Amino acid sequence: ASNYQFIIKDVVGEKKNVGMITLNRPKALNALNKGLMSELGQALTEFDADNTVGAIVITGSEKAFAAGADIKEMQGNTYSDCILGNFLADWTKVAQTRKPTIAAVNGYALGGGCELAMMCDIIYAGDKARMGQPEINIGTIPGAGGTQRLTRAIGKSKAMEMCLTGNMITAEEAEKSGLVSKIFPADKLVGEAIKLAEKISAQSPLTVALCKESVNVAYESTLSEGLRFERRYFHATFGTKDQKEGMLAFIEKRAPNFTSE
Ligand code: CAA
Repeated sequence: ASNYQFIIKDVVGEKKNVGMITLNRPKALNALNKGLMSELGQALTEFDADNTVGAIVITGSEKAFAAGADIKEMQGNTYSDCILGNFLADWTKVAQTRKPTIAAVNGYALGGGCELAMMCDIIYAGDKARMGQPEINIGTIPGAGGTQRLTRAIGKSKAMEMCLTGNMITAEEAEKSGLVSKIFPADKLVGEAIKLAEKISAQSPLTVALCKESVNVAYESTLSEGLRFERRYFHATFGTKDQKEGMLAFIEKRAPNFTSE
């Protein structure tokens, strides 16, 4: 029972202590549009604030966990739109959820779908799951952690191969490489994810919170990564008109006229 359009929000488990979110845009294979991601963020915020919920399961359909960011919605975005709207920055809400999150992945988890699964704390996969970062095929790169979390999860060689070719991996490969914890028959997957969430929900919420935070510290970035990231954004400013104008205005000893282009 929920008022959501793109997701189904429910509380499940024998003791009703598991928050359940089912992505529900079946015709678009759960492509992650603004509305869906905003509802997902809202539902996670509500579960975080609900003392009866100890852990959260996020799932899709048997055909698709999520086939990525909504290509039709973002196709016309300009560089300026992306920068000024900080495109996809709000997705971080998923990774910032304080309660443990479990992704139950059946079918396709591609692009933003794979990234969404990786923002969760634990991934369980159905035996027919296919995961990948196919952005390269459509002229872009992963934008919600695909080059970062995937590399940390499965190592450079496998992550590089996936990101540069767009090739999907099977559930077996994903488990072997450590991307997912366990594989189950597709029809058993959600039940198993709920059982896991019930087990976590039975623990002390306080200790669970400290434990989750501690594991996540292993993913904090180092100074050298931060500096490299900064440098690439610094380089990217040279693709803007405002950098040209700003520096030219300095040289011509006048005020710059910035246009956000
Ligand atoms: N965005 C918008 N619509 C999508 C979509 C997406 N990512 N993925 C699928 N759909 C839509 C299709 O357009 C189609 O809609 P219509 O019926 O209106 O034509 C419907 O969902 C069903 O899809 P298909 O007919 O393509 O289904 P299929 O079974 O033949 O193929 C698939 C399945 C291989 C997953 C294929 O849909 C596909 O390749 N999807 C795109 C995958 C992709 O490139 N994802 C990355 C997006 S970029 C990104 O995510 C950026 C980021 O880092 C955040």
